[in-house]
Amino acid sequence: MEMPEKIIANRLILERPYPVTFKLAEEMFAAVDLSRQTLRLWLPWVDATKTVEDEFSFLVTYCSDNWKNKSGFPYIIRKKDTNEFIGSIDLMKINEERKSGEIGYWLSDTAVGAGYMQEAVHALETEGFARGLNRIVIGNDTRNTRSVNVAMRCGYHLDGVMRQDRIDHISQQFVDSNVFSKLKFEL
Ligand SMILES: CC(C)(COP(=O)(O)OP(=O)(O)OC[C@H]1O[C@@H](n2cnc3c(N)ncnc32)[C@H](O)[C@@H]1OP(=O)(O)O)[C@@H](O)C(=O)NCCC(=O)NCCS
Repeated sequence: MEMPEKIIANRLILERPYPVTFKLAEEMFAAVDLSRQTLRLWLPWVDATKTVEDEFSFLVTYCSDNWKNKSGFPYIIRKKDTNEFIGSIDLMKINEERKSGEIGYWLSDTAVGAGYMQEAVHALETEGFARGLNRIVIGNDTRNTRSVNVAMRCGYHLDGVMRQDRIDHISQQFVDSNVFSKLKFEL
């Protein structure tokens, strides 16, 4: 499956983070650093992202590799009017045989509460379904109200709750995960 390097939405542009430059890594790291206390609650990689170099190596390894081998399509999100970097959305875990994938996302604290993620999910899923996907999953911690609200507002169906399916990286306790999905005919 192929995905476009740029997806234009109403107020946003979703872009492949390419070419990888130190300037881009700086821009992304600044947003992560600013929102660290919020993001770290739900995203285990945040505490491990301590420097611009960490962000750079994430771009080179995870992002570039996924795009190259088509196993996933991570995008950065920019505001169309100012070009400001506000977060990231990833169409990941592509399964060509099952025609399925999963969407993960985060926003900088400064961009929360404006409907940007709802818009980004809609733009990305529309492209994914148009390019052959049949099922897209959004998974989240059952306690992550904002993420749960994104999935519900975007019209995803709660397939079920996976009880004690992982160990929370902060509390070290077992926690439950939601599996939401949308099928092509539900777009
Ligand atoms: C999850 C996350 C992306 C959700 O961000 P969000 O801003 O709440 O979601 P949206 O961008 O869809 O915006 C919805 C909010 O904008 C408001 N809004 C304002 N203008 C809007 C518009 N034009 N259209 C839609 N919603 C709008 C909505 O009312 C809603 O606010 P509310 O929840 O306070 O009622 C964000 O909280 C985040 O990055 N969290 C940390 C990382 C994380 O948990 N990632 C997911 C891991 S599974």
